[in-house]
Amino acid sequence: MAEREQGALRGDHPHDEVVPILDFGSQTAQLIARRAREAGVYAVLVHPGISAEELAAMQPRGIILSGGPSSVYDDGAPTCDPAIFKLDLPVLGICYGMQLACHLLGATVERARHREFGRASLQVQGGSLFLGVPAQTTVWMSHGDQISGLAGAGLEPAASTETCPYAAVRTPDNRFTGVQFHPEVTHTPHGSDILRNFLYEICKCRGGWRMTNFADYQAQRIREAVGAQRVICGLSGGVDSSVVAALIHKAIGDQLTCVFVDNGLLRKHERELVETTFRDNFHIDLRVADAADQFLADLAGVEDPQEKRRRIGHRFIEVFKETAAELEGAHFLAQGTLYPDVIESGHGHAGISANIKLHHNVGGLPEELGFRLIEPLRDLFKDEVRKLGEVLGVPDQIVWRHPFPGPGLAVRVLGEITREKLDVLRDCDEILLEEIVAAELYRKTSQVFAVLLPIQSVGVMGDGRTYERVVAIRAVESQDFMTADWARIPFDVLARISNRIINEVRGVNRVVYDISSKPPATIEWE
Ligand code: XMP
Repeated sequence: MAEREQGALRGDHPHDEVVPILDFGSQTAQLIARRAREAGVYAVLVHPGISAEELAAMQPRGIILSGGPSSVYDDGAPTCDPAIFKLDLPVLGICYGMQLACHLLGATVERARHREFGRASLQVQGGSLFLGVPAQTTVWMSHGDQISGLAGAGLEPAASTETCPYAAVRTPDNRFTGVQFHPEVTHTPHGSDILRNFLYEICKCRGGWRMTNFADYQAQRIREAVGAQRVICGLSGGVDSSVVAALIHKAIGDQLTCVFVDNGLLRKHERELVETTFRDNFHIDLRVADAADQFLADLAGVEDPQEKRRRIGHRFIEVFKETAAELEGAHFLAQGTLYPDVIESGHGHAGISANIKLHHNVGGLPEELGFRLIEPLRDLFKDEVRKLGEVLGVPDQIVWRHPFPGPGLAVRVLGEITREKLDVLRDCDEILLEEIVAAELYRKTSQVFAVLLPIQSVGVMGDGRTYERVVAIRAVESQDFMTADWARIPFDVLARISNRIINEVRGVNRVVYDISSKPPATIEWE
């Protein structure tokens, strides 16, 4: 396992007010952090096994215990240091976090007779947590266990639902509050108010945390960790690696070298955009590895999408290694790993979230290369990264870029790849994006691209019959790219796109629009 710069480069507390969240493995743990940050308080996930002393050393304003998939009575169920409750700090337990705290405080937790999943109507009884929240409000529940008795625990009920008598509990002085529901999800309409109440009414936070604090803090931490050494950053031209490059450049200036691999599978002007942005604008030491010939040679005759990905991945490592070998004293590799990458790979802070899928960004590459990893965006969601990019002066064109897959146009030229097909696709894609931007649809869509199909169709141009290529247009709207819906691009915009492609790109006589959602289709065609 490549050595990760724990703590030092993951934002522990880039502000004088910090609220650690003990992560018991909930898929929504990071959402709690994000809601707190939206409310102006820096919250960060920490391992649930952290000791009370370590927590105290962070000088937190309060502590949050997240939800998680376990039952407090399971063998090996994650627990926390009980001394946390003696720190004289406000503690908020959410779902499993509430059950665990109540269990440690002496209350009874049992398998609920009625498991509650989905929306529930909450009757609020009182407590600072619910200030300004209607007496009856909707909350999102997802639990199999619940508190069944408070005797001897020094707790009192604060809210209930029809099947959950202790949907919220508290100590009379509010030092501990627990909620069985999830205030961090948008399905709990007053959830942000409840979290705000914890932060401001109970923890007495002053607020004021902004993304600029994060940038300054991370830059400082990067400087401390890297010292006089060099850092390499693989730039893809996408948002994440660009923001990482800008952040590291802010921290260590010309100790940073960026490597951009031109694999011959890029969109039109992509390389120029990266060169002008990073070399001319940021004055970053940018090395461009011109490896198109090698990649295309590897891909000759290959039709299978996974085989294409495999060959591209191998070649990328080779090229990156060669380029990196020319840079003396580079021991650090910066990566734009985001929180969703971390959580999807089951590499959450707590290390106990269910493994959903192995992601190309986590693991793999760095291990081979033997670098120490710098991943300063590990705590952030995509929209937070965009905010950080804006703070760092990364141009809008990059900050708001749609995602582009690592294998690039190789998975958009269906079947066998040739230079000629890539050129045709690049021309189509350029026209498509020009029209989408002109119709002000770029920011309203999540991903828009053209796909070159491996078929030809009959057409008629002038007096002649044609037998030429077919291009598909894919435009989707998506929150997280795990699911997506096809974008309802207005017909007149589609008409302009189709006209222009057929008129301007030689060799294409038909354009079709993909109206499949994900699932069952995927976003890419290969
Ligand atoms: P699918 O096609 O799986 O795509 O619905 C979901 C998102 O992932 C991107 N994608 C990739 N990104 N390497 C990448 O870096 C890949 O091999 C890859 N395949 C798909 C896709 O563009 C979409 O944003």
